[in-house]
Amino acid sequence: MKEIDWANLSFGYMKTDYNVRINFRNGKWGELEVSSEEHLTLHMAATCLHYGQEAFEGLKAFRGKDGKVRIFRLEENAARLQSTCQGILMAELSTDRFKEAILKVVKLNERFIPPYESGASLYIRPLLIGTSAQVGVHPATEYMFVVFVSPVGPYFKGGFSTNPYVIIREFDRAAPHGTGTYKIGGNYAASLRANKKAHDLGYSCEFYLDAKEKKYIDECGAANFFGIKDNTYITPLSSSILPSITNKSLMQLAEDMGMKVERRPVPEEELATFEEAGACGTAAVISPIQRIDDLEKDKSYVISKDGKPGPICTKLYNKLRDIQYGDAPDTHGWVTIVE
Ligand code: PLP
Ligand code: COI
Repeated sequence: MKEIDWANLSFGYMKTDYNVRINFRNGKWGELEVSSEEHLTLHMAATCLHYGQEAFEGLKAFRGKDGKVRIFRLEENAARLQSTCQGILMAELSTDRFKEAILKVVKLNERFIPPYESGASLYIRPLLIGTSAQVGVHPATEYMFVVFVSPVGPYFKGGFSTNPYVIIREFDRAAPHGTGTYKIGGNYAASLRANKKAHDLGYSCEFYLDAKEKKYIDECGAANFFGIKDNTYITPLSSSILPSITNKSLMQLAEDMGMKVERRPVPEEELATFEEAGACGTAAVISPIQRIDDLEKDKSYVISKDGKPGPICTKLYNKLRDIQYGDAPDTHGWVTIVE
């Protein structure tokens, strides 16, 4: 095998040895299958191709200083996938079967788990798709669950360093009663133009406002938002954002640090009052925010005056990473050790 440059990995796809699959047929999930084939054979009328019956998840495995491999909050990802399946009428996979598949694919690809020192991790990408043929708009009767992995580095430029973001008013990612709370491909398709616009303008990522009033901060294209002020961790409450497992964990860690936690609508103008802010998610971990521009309103909310990550973002980041890599005790039971 070609040597992997662990310390300089980007967030991308790398071929590994194996993926795992479970098929749903005749009303039940079958046995787990191991494959080294990167391609899927699909019926051309499969519902995932036409009617968007596609859900995915994202989680990570970390190699600790002790050599052990830890997977972060996999039961939460299983639960979110079940919620997504309810949202777009797909067959639900139990938490036990989800766990079986994740553990298997991580063990089979052990040699791709980055070493502790690299600060990189193994990204785990489960997906669940409708596979049976349907021409009328109806849910499929057959589904496939697939999990592949890829060693990854930071999602946003520079890893834990501040970046500029931009509010894009022209496009919405999700409607108030739409599919924004589910992790489905359609939401990401809806985000591509806004994301490209943000990148073309030199920003790290796009920010969405609530689609109805265009007044409140929703989230980024691939991460939740939080702001810090007066020893309080503030994060949007909205019916169109993804319930981030990282954000949920950071709320707990903030509480553990003696901070107040508020989940409520965050008006755009409030950005001017935050001492620190970040984008958070499995891929992003915490990406501290340098500033958020609202070009249409000719406003620039500068959050990090010196361009550096703030002390609370740094403390939260370190606490989270320490649990993930096994450098701090797993007091909340968030970690599954791969035996
Ligand atoms: N919001 C969106 C739109 C995302 O794609 C993600 C990534 O999964 C997140 C938030 C963060 O969620 P999590 O922390 O569960 O990875
Ligand atoms: C994640 O953070 O796991 C994501 O899914 C974000 C993005 C790569 C879609």
